[in-house]
Amino acid sequence: MPSMKTLLLFGLVVHVTIIIVNSKEEIPFGTILSFNRKCIKNKALYKHFALYVGDEYPGQGDIIHRVGKDKGGNITFGNLRDEGSYQPDNYLDDMDLNITVAAIKQRIQKMLNATGYNLINNNCEHAATYFRYGISSSKQLGTLAAKPMSVINGFRTKFKERVKNEMLCAS
Ligand SMILES: *[C@@H]1O[C@H](CO)[C@@H](O)[C@H](O)[C@H]1NC(C)=O
Ligand SMILES: *[C@@H]1O[C@H](CO)[C@@H](O)[C@H](O)[C@H]1NC(C)=O
Ligand SMILES: *[C@@H]1O[C@H](CO)[C@@H](O)[C@H](O)[C@H]1NC(C)=O
Repeated sequence: MPSMKTLLLFGLVVHVTIIIVNSKEEIPFGTILSFNRKCIKNKALYKHFALYVGDEYPGQGDIIHRVGKDKGGNITFGNLRDEGSYQPDNYLDDMDLNITVAAIKQRIQKMLNATGYNLINNNCEHAATYFRYGISSSKQLGTLAAKPMSVINGFRTKFKERVKNEMLCAS
């Protein structure tokens, strides 16, 4: 017979496991996740960004992101459990862009197809916002190229706020 202590411990482990599984399932496909990171050189804080894809790309990982230059700067799949604590950060959802699963998957595929050259020659936030919203700033920080004015006007203000926090995007 297992001791009471063993049973209690088992119950605790099951409980903790359920909490972890549940919190993972609560993240919907296509959610932008941000991770607070420290910039070593000037000690400023910045964020890393990734897109949550869950189980949609079996065997590849549950997030997709552009990794830092130190790791090749590629768009690649990764695992949320390797990235530390995160916040959901869908900060342009009020802009009424196409954030259907189909649209997001299409953008992911487009980026994966483009491996080998920089379709979006920028950092991880640009990659993540492109995946979710179809918008990226491919020319320079804080500016948007080749987007309809209706989109730009609301986007630019919000984007500039974010640019302050966004630095080298090392992973
Ligand atoms: C980045 O992608 C290129 C093209 O697919 C590949 O050759 C290279 O090995 C990748 N680099 C890293 C660090 O994964
Ligand atoms: C959103 O994108 C998907 C995939 O391209 C497309 O099928 C759908 O019609 C789009 N929806 C809207 C409202 O534009
Ligand atoms: C990605 O590449 C595949 C294979 O060449 C092609 O069938 C598909 O249309 C491409 N998707 C996008 C979104 O470019």
